[in-house]
Amino acid sequence: MITSDELKPINNLVILMAMRDEAQPIIKSLELKENLGALHVQLPMRCYQNQIGRINVSLVIAGIDDRHQVDNIGSEAATLMAYESITQLQPDLIISAGTAGGFASRGADIGTIYVSEEHFVYHDRHVPIKGYHDSSIGKYPAAKVSRLAKNLHLKTGIISTGSSLEKSDKDILVIDEHNAVAKEMEAAGIAWVAMLFNIPMMALKSITNLVDHDNKSESEFIKNLSYASQCLHDKVLEIVDYLQNKTVQDLE
Ligand code: ADE
Repeated sequence: MITSDELKPINNLVILMAMRDEAQPIIKSLELKENLGALHVQLPMRCYQNQIGRINVSLVIAGIDDRHQVDNIGSEAATLMAYESITQLQPDLIISAGTAGGFASRGADIGTIYVSEEHFVYHDRHVPIKGYHDSSIGKYPAAKVSRLAKNLHLKTGIISTGSSLEKSDKDILVIDEHNAVAKEMEAAGIAWVAMLFNIPMMALKSITNLVDHDNKSESEFIKNLSYASQCLHDKVLEIVDYLQNKTVQDLE
């Protein structure tokens, strides 16, 4: 369903990211400044903003788990971050940006960037009961952005979300079944909230590790995080430029 907002130029862009290290290069290049009043004070999420051309860009990160001094990764924090960002910032478009595991057999390399296509699935919600099965897989809609992907020479594919970085054969089976190109930990949680509020949402994921290679995802992830984040940074900047004076419908 096309809403009248999708026919207006994009004014409010919200970029949601899990990790500070993924976001830092973008915050620096776009000279985003922290807005301490943007989100509920009790929440760990942090919001950084700047006006870039005609677009008010807000980058929200999930913040720190104070108890362990690590980022709040995963779809619970992402879901909450999406809800708070949607209600407080009223985005015209949401981008879930971050890193993911990819598949060499589907053409990925370290630093390959994917744009979401069609829908988002969960690969680790195994509930073999009629109705609950499909509900658990999700299939939340991805914004139609094939023109954007084509013009910026970006690969596209289905993004799959779960709660583990570690590989599991059962999860990989579900990823394969849905022909997904990226395995990550946030997008489907964000897509669910975006669907509830009818806000177009896309993901942009940079590959840190190849899931179908004989390695440990966690060590490859750590090794390649900085490089993949730099690749992500380059594309986010291109996208912010590309979105100027465009409507959501122009991206289709
Ligand atoms: N983020 C980066 N790599 C990942 C992987 N292999 N699985 C889940 N999340 C990731």
